Amino acid sequence: MITNDSIQKVLTHADIVEVIGHFMQLKKRGSNYIGNCPFHNEKTPSFNVNPAKNIFKCFGCGKGGDSVTFLEEHEKFSFVEAIRWLADFYKIELEESAPSEAYVAHLQVEESLRIINDFAAQYFKNNLLNTEEGQNIGLSYFRERGFSNATIEKFMLGYSLEQWDAFLVSALAKGFDKNLLEKAGLIKVRPDRVYDSYRGRVIFPIFSNTGKILGFGARILKKTEKAPKYVNSPENELYVKNRVLYGLYQSRKAINDKQECFLVEGYTDVISLHQAGIENVVSSSGTSLTTGQLKQIGNLTKNLTILYDGDAAGIKAALRGLDMAIEENFIVKLVLLPEGEDPDSFVQKNGSAAFETYVAGNKVDIIDFMMEQGLKEAQNDPFKKSAVANEIAATVAKIDKGKNLGLHLHYIKEASTKLNIDEEAFVGIVNNFIRERLKKPVKEELAPVSQTFDEPILDEYGQIVSMPEEASLNLYKKEHKEEWQLIKMLIEHGDKMYEAGKTVATHFFEEIDISIFEEPMAHDIAMIYYKYWQDNKAFPPLSFFTNYAMKSIKEKVIDLIQVEFTPSENWQLKYNIEIPDTEANYLDDVISSFAYFKLKLLRKYIAENLEELKLCKDPAKVEQLVKTNLLLKQQEKQLMAVVIVK
Ligand code: GTP
Ligand code: MN
Repeated sequence: MITNDSIQKVLTHADIVEVIGHFMQLKKRGSNYIGNCPFHNEKTPSFNVNPAKNIFKCFGCGKGGDSVTFLEEHEKFSFVEAIRWLADFYKIELEESAPSEAYVAHLQVEESLRIINDFAAQYFKNNLLNTEEGQNIGLSYFRERGFSNATIEKFMLGYSLEQWDAFLVSALAKGFDKNLLEKAGLIKVRPDRVYDSYRGRVIFPIFSNTGKILGFGARILKKTEKAPKYVNSPENELYVKNRVLYGLYQSRKAINDKQECFLVEGYTDVISLHQAGIENVVSSSGTSLTTGQLKQIGNLTKNLTILYDGDAAGIKAALRGLDMAIEENFIVKLVLLPEGEDPDSFVQKNGSAAFETYVAGNKVDIIDFMMEQGLKEAQNDPFKKSAVANEIAATVAKIDKGKNLGLHLHYIKEASTKLNIDEEAFVGIVNNFIRERLKKPVKEELAPVSQTFDEPILDEYGQIVSMPEEASLNLYKKEHKEEWQLIKMLIEHGDKMYEAGKTVATHFFEEIDISIFEEPMAHDIAMIYYKYWQDNKAFPPLSFFTNYAMKSIKEKVIDLIQVEFTPSENWQLKYNIEIPDTEANYLDDVISSFAYFKLKLLRKYIAENLEELKLCKDPAKVEQLVKTNLLLKQQEKQLMAVVIVK
């Protein structure tokens, strides 16, 4: 592990002009340097390097950052790889902190497995190309499947001889350890004998992102017995399955260039598409995608296109991975191939042009697909229809609004149009799901506002366990005036001064944890406000909201600002406080709005405390509760003093 000091040292040494200059031509222009952006196609340079700030920024495509960012983007390095590259470039010696013994042992096994796999891949490749059995059986099989020499080379395909211990004997002769060979999955150790795992199968090495061989898939050639069609290496120190996708090593550049990743089911689908010149493709190897695998793709693109067989099983498989992809902020499209075809057979039969035409003509948004599929099944049954609406809402609720608000809103629009339900009603259902999710984790204390924004929808892998019965009925919630009043202050007066050196908006986001808002739309508007502020380094003008693309939000805001806020007449009775004059200046409004909001919270706490007190039988606990009660009452008094500003 590289020490923090070393990392800092590298970062301070890294000169952005030198680093970028190593990869591309830069011209001096004033105090900056410019060049043609390496991240998008352009003829006139808009790629700007600023030596004073040690950053780059492309005004064409928007990419920007420091030397590490450049290396991450340009070379597809990880952070650590970028640091190592820079250290090498500047001849800085990296200090490594001593790793634990267990970690060292782990690394040793990992490295040994890697060496064994290298040997095995070479061995299988040699079998395929240079032995009679390999040529007659393995190679002729690949030929039958239409794989060219170049393809066989590119994917390092091989063949395992149909003998009990041909590999074992060679590997032991090389001095490899029997236990490690077993760990690698290459041999089987049984009490009565030891033998090769992949006898008589063709071999598909599985590569890491950087080209290490992590394991193997092995396909049977004879249509025999009940032996599985494919067998795979077991999981071990080197091969962590849920992080690996077949084909990613060979496809990562194309995926990044095309900004789209095709997801197919099998090894041979990846290989045939590559051979046809379609190189942005990975395979999940017949299983559902894992979050770890999605993250690998997500580093390159967020556009995922699933290419599956059009039969029922294919559709099911496609939809299985959907929710997770949505949670990882992917835009997921689906192409169903003609029944009975997989991408391999389709492209081998029809060629790449026909494949591309087919994909372009049959690509559908997966949430749209879900809706159509659901509506088709529901026919005119209103109950089934409402079940579809709920299902879609549950999926839409998984989109991380903090990171992908646009997409979230897009689907809300789409869904309410397609399902023919009122947009606001649909938002209500979606929000119910979000609230259910938010409710689940026990909150000890209120999270600071900044955290709430990073992770507005808490990410536990838990699917929604139970569907609240009233989800589809409870569309019109009771009003939350205190929250709305705060939002009104935010959008009307956010940019104005709250106190010296502090705006109303700053105060709002410092003071209010919007994750406890009970009114989801109020929460959303606050978040939209915050995002605008972060993205534009300026507060959104009122027109931003009054022209907002989403009808329900726009209308709510117009509602909110049109009518002067008049607190519920109950407030005066309930809280026994003065209601501020609506003509008062904004600061009075702002201050009392904050106070009202807090007062309401406080009243809730007091009520809860009293409830607990009523039920409590333990004298010690009672004393404690009474103390809390007094404290809360005291705070209430103080707040009321603030509320009565005039
Ligand atoms: P070909 O039949 O050679 O074209 O392979 P395919 O990729 O079309 O196979 P299929 O559609 O049957 O399966 C898709 C993927 O699921 C395969 O590429 C394998 O990764 C996996 N798979 C299929 N059969 C088995 C099996 O018996 N065991 C295991 N572990 N995986 C399998
Ligand atoms: Mn196939």
